[in-house]
This record gives sequence, structure tokens and C-alpha cells, in this order.
Amino acid sequence: MALLALIRIFGFFLFWTLASADGDVLGEARVAKRCYCDLQMSDGPFPRLQFEQLYSVSENCSHRLKDQQFNEPIDIITNMEQRLKSLVQRVNEFEEEYDGELYSIISFRIIEIEIAELTDLLNQLQEKCSRNQNDITELVTQVQNITSQVDELEEYDRLKVVREHRKNIMLEKTLSSCQNALLVTPAPYVTPQIGSCSFGSLKAVSYPKSSMLNHFGTSYPYGSWGKDPLPAAGKEDLYWLVIMSSSNRFGTKIRLFSSHAKFLTKGTHNDVTFKTFNAQGSGGTMFKDAYYYNCYDTGRLCRFDMTTQEVIHVTLPFAGYNDKFPYCTLSSCYMYTDMDLATDENGLWVLYATEFNFGNLVVSRLNTTDLSLLESWNTTLYKRSATNAFVICGVVYATRYLSSETEEIFYMFDTTSGVERNDLSIQFRKVLPGIQYMNYNPRDRKLYVYSDAYIVSYSLTFE
Ligand SMILES: *[C@@H]1O[C@H](CO)[C@@H](O)[C@H](O)[C@H]1NC(C)=O
Ligand SMILES: *[C@@H]1O[C@H](CO)[C@@H](O)[C@H](O)[C@H]1NC(C)=O
Ligand SMILES: *[C@@H]1O[C@H](CO)[C@@H](O)[C@H](O)[C@H]1NC(C)=O
Ligand SMILES: *[C@@H]1O[C@H](CO)[C@@H](O)[C@H](O)[C@H]1NC(C)=O
Repeated sequence: MALLALIRIFGFFLFWTLASADGDVLGEARVAKRCYCDLQMSDGPFPRLQFEQLYSVSENCSHRLKDQQFNEPIDIITNMEQRLKSLVQRVNEFEEEYDGELYSIISFRIIEIEIAELTDLLNQLQEKCSRNQNDITELVTQVQNITSQVDELEEYDRLKVVREHRKNIMLEKTLSSCQNALLVTPAPYVTPQIGSCSFGSLKAVSYPKSSMLNHFGTSYPYGSWGKDPLPAAGKEDLYWLVIMSSSNRFGTKIRLFSSHAKFLTKGTHNDVTFKTFNAQGSGGTMFKDAYYYNCYDTGRLCRFDMTTQEVIHVTLPFAGYNDKFPYCTLSSCYMYTDMDLATDENGLWVLYATEFNFGNLVVSRLNTTDLSLLESWNTTLYKRSATNAFVICGVVYATRYLSSETEEIFYMFDTTSGVERNDLSIQFRKVLPGIQYMNYNPRDRKLYVYSDAYIVSYSLTFE
């Protein structure tokens, strides 16, 4: 049964008991020889039966409505049925996606969104049905029943799954810190193969691999986050987060987490405040122990040294700024995304547009020391027709909005060969409709995305 594994994964209440063989105090693992882990289970599994009942009731509803030939409600019910089927499929995918790294909370977020859409359909149905009160009072009762069950499912999701997930992360963290302390040699740090791109061109983007609400909450739809691809010694596991804290326009500080566990659990952090210039727009990124960004209210690029906190700023020649050439969907633009910093195997890039190039995307590789342009290319991609862009191995990829659930990589420009194409169709699933930040990290070959206040990552497949 598809849902059984799900039950195994999240249904348990986990009670870890950590102790050391020598009876040492937990955490003083340098003295300890072993880590114990007791797993106790009690009930609280995903309400599979309830879910299945809900499904069959809705099918029954549909049949009966068909008999009675109420066309409008039938459309809604059919839609609802499809939604439920898709929800079941999503749960199956969730099971397949689960990678043991507690990354799959994202799939639950998607299920949550789908349940919300379902509830909305049910409300519509109730409204339509109420016009035929006499005939289908019973049906309405049933629909109300479905609604309350959906609510319960949703409640289950929020209160139990997510809460247990957090608890598990904390426990995992305790366990892994205990285990790490026992490891004799630390895992080797793999440096990205700068200049080496032997792994081929981009073929596919995964399902969202991890997702969480940013650390400041839903009021901050603009931001950026990631890991430095070429970190300074001792900062290999550092995660950074910058949100646009004022009118979605500028950020004033960088929040740093010393490990993935601290990042996930929103644990201890260090806030570093920008000097001289705040950061404008969500296009900034970290590289070689410095944060690069569009300096607030100017056509300049800023480099903020993470160690010395020294700032250098240089005009990006002819670049549009202050919302002149932002990224856009068909209906709206992403505020202040004029200058987009990007990292790849070749170093640091800036993606922007100039009037000289008719508002089309210009790609420049930067000298990370003095922010001078090492090389530049004019492309024929109108910057406002893309929702974002990133660079892999010297190839620029741009995305466009297909639907609230799907984004598509439709364009590429190879700076090595000059080849330009706008007929790509690499689609990927989104957590939320908006994409405010997207960057490729050549160290782990993942895409780091900030999507309507959610922090998301994707793994990539090459051919
Ligand atoms: C639908 O539900 C009604 C009452 O709840 C029941 O009598 C009927 O047999 C069901 N029909 C189907 C097709 O399951
Ligand atoms: C709602 O549906 C469930 C499952 O079919 C049933 O057990 C329950 O009695 C129903 N509740 C109401 C109020 O109809
Ligand atoms: C980058 O700029 C620095 C300082 O101006 C200079 O010494 C260095 O040679 C430049 N690097 C490249 C690759 O041009
Ligand atoms: C880009 O186009 C502008 C305007 O035609 C031109 O001045 C500039 O030299 C071009 N840049 C490159 C790198 O070709």
C-alpha cells in the first residue's frame, strides 16, 4: 500500500534516547565510545483510512449527482475527483521522493496546497448545491462531512506531521553531533572543479528537494539564500540568508548559520549588518567569503567582505537599475531584480540589461577582487521576458512562468560557443508561484531558490 511507508516515515512519535557506553553526560561524546538510539512507536499514523473514505465518498457523490443531472456541480465534483486522484498520486510521489534526509517536508507542503484547493472546490459545490435544496440536502450534508474531514486531514498535517518533523530534526541533530564527535576523520571537502564541465549539459531539474519557510516568516516574499561555493577555511558548512526587509526592496543584514542543522532548525545564528550600502533586490549571492549585490538605489555593484566587512562598490557600465530591467512574468515584475549575481564553475557573473542592448540580457564575468568586467556578451533575450536566470559551466539558462505550479527553462546562451537557443523545455515543479531568486552552486551542483518566502533547493541531471 502506497501510504504505508508514509505512515512509517511520519506517523511515529519518536523517542530517541541517547546515552553513551561509559555513562557520560550526553553531548560529551569525545569520551563516549558509542551512540545508542531507542525508537519507540505509538499511534498517530497518517489517517489513511479516513483519506480513502473521503475519496470513495466523493466518488459516490459524483455518481449520484450524475444520476440527477446537475451539470454545474458535476463539473466541480469531477474537478474535485481529479484533485483527489492527484493528491493520492502526490502522496505516492512523496513516498518515492523520501530520501532519508528529512527533505521531503516539501511534498507535504504541496499536499497542503492541494487540500486547500480541494476545500475551495467544496465550498463552491456547497454554494451551487444550495440552489437545489430540496433534492440534495443529504448530499450537502455529505459534502459538509467531506469538508470537515479535509479540514481534519489538514489539521493533521500541520499539527502532527510538521511538528513531528521538527522534533525529528532536533533529535537527528543531537544524534548526528554525537556521532560526528566520534568520527576520527572529518569528511573531505570537495572543491568545485573550476573550469571543468565534463558532466554535460542540463537535462532536468528534480522535484523540489527541500523547502522551508524563511526564518523571518511569510511577510518576506523577496530574499536569497545558499552556501558559498568557494568558502573560506572553517566556513565550509555555513548557510546564509538575506531577506528584503523593507518594502520588498532592500536588505540590511546577512543571517549566517554555522551548519545545515542550525539552518533547518532556525537555531543559533549570527547577523552581519551591511556597511556603506544596503542590498537592493534579491539578486545577491555569496562567493569566496564575500557577498555581492546591487548597492541600494544605484547602478553599482557592491562587494561586502565577510571577514573584514570592507565594502567596495563599482558602477556596472550602462546597466539598468531601480526597476528599469527587472525579471517579469506576463502579468507582473519581480521588484528590483535588475542585477542578478550568479556563480558557476568559472567564478562570478552578473546578469543584467542595458539600453545599448535594447533591454536585452547582458552577461558579464566579474573580477571578484575589484568588480571589473572580465568578459561580456550581448544576448537577444529581452530581460523582462524571463522570470530568472542562472549560469552553469558558462551557459546561461533563463526561466519563464508557465503556471502557478510549473516554471520552465526555455532559453540558453553558451558563452563558450556563442550558441543561443530559446526552444528549450525543461520544466520543474514549484512550491509556490513566485521565483524571486535562483542560483546554481557549482560545489554541490544544486539550484538554490527563494520562492514567495519559501526556501527551496533542486538537484540537477546532466546528459
Ligand atoms: C453511496 O452512498 C449511499 C448512502 O451513503 C449508499 O446507499 C450507496 O450504496 C452508495 N453508492 C455507491 C455507488 O457507493
Ligand atoms: C461522515 O462520514 C464518515 C465516513 O463515511 C461517517 O463515519 C460519519 O458518520 C459521517 N458523519 C456525518 C456527520 O455524517
Ligand atoms: C582582478 O583585479 C585585481 C586587482 O585589480 C588584479 O590584480 C587581478 O589581476 C585581476 N584578475 C584578473 C583575472 O584579471
Ligand atoms: C553590446 O552591444 C553594444 C551596443 O551595440 C556594444 O557597444 C557593445 O560593445 C556590445 N558588447 C559586446 C561584448 O559585444
